[in-house]
Amino acid sequence: MLTTPLLRLSERLAQLTTSATVALNGKMSQMKAHGIDVISFGQGEPDFPTPAPIKAAAVQAIEANKTRYTPAGGIAELREAVAQRLLADSGISYTAAQISITSGVKEGLFLAFLAVCDAGDEVIVPAPYWVSYIEQVRLAGATPVVIDTDEATRFKVTPAMLAQHLTPRTRVLVLSSPSNPTGAVYTAEELHALAEVLRQPQFAGVLIFTDEIYDQICYIPYARWLRVAPDFAERTLVFNGWSKTYAMTGWRLGYVAGAKPILTAIRDIQGTRPRTPIQWRSMRLLPPTPPRPRLRRRLPQWCRRSTPAAT
Ligand SMILES: Cc1ncc(COP(=O)(O)O)c(C=O)c1O
Repeated sequence: MLTTPLLRLSERLAQLTTSATVALNGKMSQMKAHGIDVISFGQGEPDFPTPAPIKAAAVQAIEANKTRYTPAGGIAELREAVAQRLLADSGISYTAAQISITSGVKEGLFLAFLAVCDAGDEVIVPAPYWVSYIEQVRLAGATPVVIDTDEATRFKVTPAMLAQHLTPRTRVLVLSSPSNPTGAVYTAEELHALAEVLRQPQFAGVLIFTDEIYDQICYIPYARWLRVAPDFAERTLVFNGWSKTYAMTGWRLGYVAGAKPILTAIRDIQGTRPRTPIQWRSMRLLPPTPPRPRLRRRLPQWCRRSTPAAT
């Protein structure tokens, strides 16, 4: 029989609280079981199934034996499609070497924190935040620095708040717009103002992680970070994926794009590749004009049903 010392877990894990997403889901199920009408602000799960053509194309890819290992970072065709999409979205040209396909944005973010953070580095995370950011930062050995926001700023960070929290140890600012859980969306003017703060020479080493997973589920014109501040392209990692837009949360596919040395590091850590047939399928969803008409038709329905906390 195994004795306790053998079952010792790493010190790294001691810093990890039980997955907040999992804890929240458990709590929600409990409340529902007690007949309480509850809305989850944890995992963002679209309430329609993966569209039939997507499912059919994945089956086709399997039948065509597109089932082998792919290159690290994903198949070239999908990375090219992502590059076209990024060019259309933000006007920035990326090469395939600057893009990696990941098992969801969640994996992309984790790999990125591992790639750029050391112990003592600080990562600024505006609150309320998607629960995984904090745990990922801690697992990467860095320290989360939370900026609390509330209704007064419509759940957004102002330049003054950002300036107050930046230190010589700041390594990353996480930008999440539209935000889960608040639905807050930064305007172009607000992003311009944040960029002004970050342009100060003493903050030249701060990277921006822009999590754009909800960009297509936005009820007002979307201001994209790199469209507003293209001079930050070298300092920005863009995260996006298929989970929310195409109700593919369980398929686990996302991407990260940014400076080549960081993407090379991400691929080195990643080692294993996202699911091959799904990569082939997803290629056809992306280029070049988002979103697909079917999705566009859904937006008014979502809009009617939801009341984002802030715009
Ligand atoms: C803000 C945010 N980013 C990323 C993710 C994870 O996306 P993926 O399914 O691509 O890992 C979620 C999921 O709830 C989210 O809310």
